[in-house]
Formats: sequence, C-alpha cells, structure tokens
Amino acid sequence: MSQRQHRVVSGARISGRLHVGNFLGAIANWVRLQDSYECFFFCADWHGLTTGYEDTEAFMQQKEETFLDILACGLDPERCVFFVQSDVKEHAELYLLLSLITPLGWLERVPTYKEQLQQMTGREITTHGFLGYPVLQSADVLLYGGELVPVGEDQLPHLELCREISRRFNHLYRPILPEPQALLTKTPNLVGIDGRKMSKSYGNEIPVGASADEIKQRVSMMVTDPQRVRRTDPGDPDVCTVHRFHGFFGSEQATVAQGCREASIGCVECKKRLAAALWEYLAPIWERKQDLRENPQRLQDIRQEGATKARQVAQDMLVEVRSAMRIG
Ligand code: TRP
Ligand code: SF4
Repeated sequence: MSQRQHRVVSGARISGRLHVGNFLGAIANWVRLQDSYECFFFCADWHGLTTGYEDTEAFMQQKEETFLDILACGLDPERCVFFVQSDVKEHAELYLLLSLITPLGWLERVPTYKEQLQQMTGREITTHGFLGYPVLQSADVLLYGGELVPVGEDQLPHLELCREISRRFNHLYRPILPEPQALLTKTPNLVGIDGRKMSKSYGNEIPVGASADEIKQRVSMMVTDPQRVRRTDPGDPDVCTVHRFHGFFGSEQATVAQGCREASIGCVECKKRLAAALWEYLAPIWERKQDLRENPQRLQDIRQEGATKARQVAQDMLVEVRSAMRIG
C-alpha cells in the first residue's frame, strides 16, 4: 500500500444532473482510485458559478443533487474525503493568494478560456471570476498537496497552468507546493441519445440516477440507422447510436450488430435489450440514491464530515503558505 501516500485530488464541476457520460468519464475512475490512493474529491460548485452566477437558486439544488448522485455512484466517504468546495472556504483564500502571483497573460493564453468565450454567446462571462477559473482550480489541487489529478484531456491546459503557478510560488517564496501531474482518464467517446456529444446543454443525456421507466423512454428516443426504414431492411449498426451504447453497457453488441445486418432483429427489440442492459448497470446506483434520499440526516452528516476532514488538511497547508509568504 505504498501508493497510499500519493495524494489524488479532483473536482466535478456542477452543471445539472450527473449523466452516464460523466460517470464513465470521471466518477467511475474516482471510485476505482479511492482504494489505492489518499483521495480528495469534491463538487466544484464555485466553478459552476463562474458561468451560472445568475440563476443561483436552481444552482443550489443541482449541487445537492450532484453530491447525492456521486455518492450513489459508489464513492465511499470512509475511504476518501468527499466534500463540497464552497463548504471549505480555505479554497477562496488560497485562490486569492495565488491570484496575486499569476500574470494576466498566462490566463488569457489558456485555450479553454478563448474557446468558452466564443461558445458561450448570450452569457456575460467576460468577468474576473471566469478568467480566474484555472487559478481557483490550481488552489483546489494545491490546497491538499495534490500530486495526481484524474481528469480528461480537456483539462490539461489547466494543470499546466497549475504547475506554472506552483513553480512561481516556490521560486518567489519557499518550495512547498507540489507540481501536480494529470492522471489521464480515457474519456470514452459516449454520445447522447441524438448522436451528438452527451451534454446537458443538448438535452440528450441519460442521468445516472434514472429510473427504469426513464431509461426506457430515453432509449426509445435514440437515433438509429436512418436508412433502415422497414423492419425487413438490413441496417448498418456502425452508424447507429443504440449499437454504440451496446458497446458500453451489457454484452450484446456483437449479437445485435449481426442481427441488424441480417434484419433478424428489429430496432424495437434492439432498444429493449439496451434498456435492460442499462438498467442492470444503473439499478444499484438508483437504489443507493433512494436509500440516501430517505435519510437526509445521514447525507448532511456525510457532507459535514467531508468538509471537516478537508478543512484540517487545507488549514495546515494555508499555515505553510502564509508563513512562506511572510504574511502570518
Ligand atoms: N475544471 C474541472 C472540469 O471542468 C473541474 C475542477 C474544478 C477540477 N477544480 C478541479 C478538476 C480540481 C480537477 C482538480 O472538469
Ligand atoms: Fe440500430 Fe439496433 Fe436498429 Fe440496428 S437494429 S439500426 S443497431 S437500433
């Protein structure tokens, strides 16, 4: 268990109900890592606010829901520290201190910044907070002395910046901050029910907490091979979303692909089998979610204990940081 010494830190940005794309891409990985490393995982609600600062009420509900969803996915508060970012105000202090030493040019160069500015038309995100997004993310990681950060490829520029900030701090003051490395999660190319990238903003997602009925309904809406009009027409599974999903869930992908090409299986049957496979996969999550929902006190306790454990580590780090900067 010598690996246990390595600190793993990662956050999930809140943006609506957790879906199976989030699960396969990140949370399933967290669940695996909690046994091998000393892990700090959190709901990054302040990060969500950088773009969602207008409708804060809806946002609060999403935060509760995401916390619940992630626990239901199998994260065990006994084996990792799991908390909500805004419950640990120390993130804000380190964010401020790091922002003092981060040149504006570094932030303006972050590729995700420019991309998002272009994509998010209609929302006013030319804000200080949005530009500072990666500084807050750096604080999240460095606050716990994070060495390994499980993230998808899209987050690599943020980690690069985190290392740069860390090096600058260590050079200016005292070498106390680590230079965290990405623990690259292979993000499976899971699409939504309409064949585009699974995303809440497209409304094409399958939530991890979906009930059996909801799954059936979502699967029934999935796009299939558009050329296959009649049941007797042979189809091309390679262009079909249902077929792709069969590859991620259950064991029938090869069978249905052959049946589709030979027209021996219809789309209705094919979808029925997928819905069954998905439900088999998601039922334990759904059940755990019901259990937790029925016990709000326990949920409250988990959240508080997580924050308390995180705060202890965070406060120690801040003592070091302030002392290195000679500000207390
Ligand atoms: N920016 C990350 C994302 O969008 C979420 C995040 C916030 C994060 N703080 C973090 C990830 C710290 C890793 C470490 O996915
Ligand atoms: Fe898609 Fe299945 Fe229909 Fe083939 S049979 S087009 S794989 S849903």
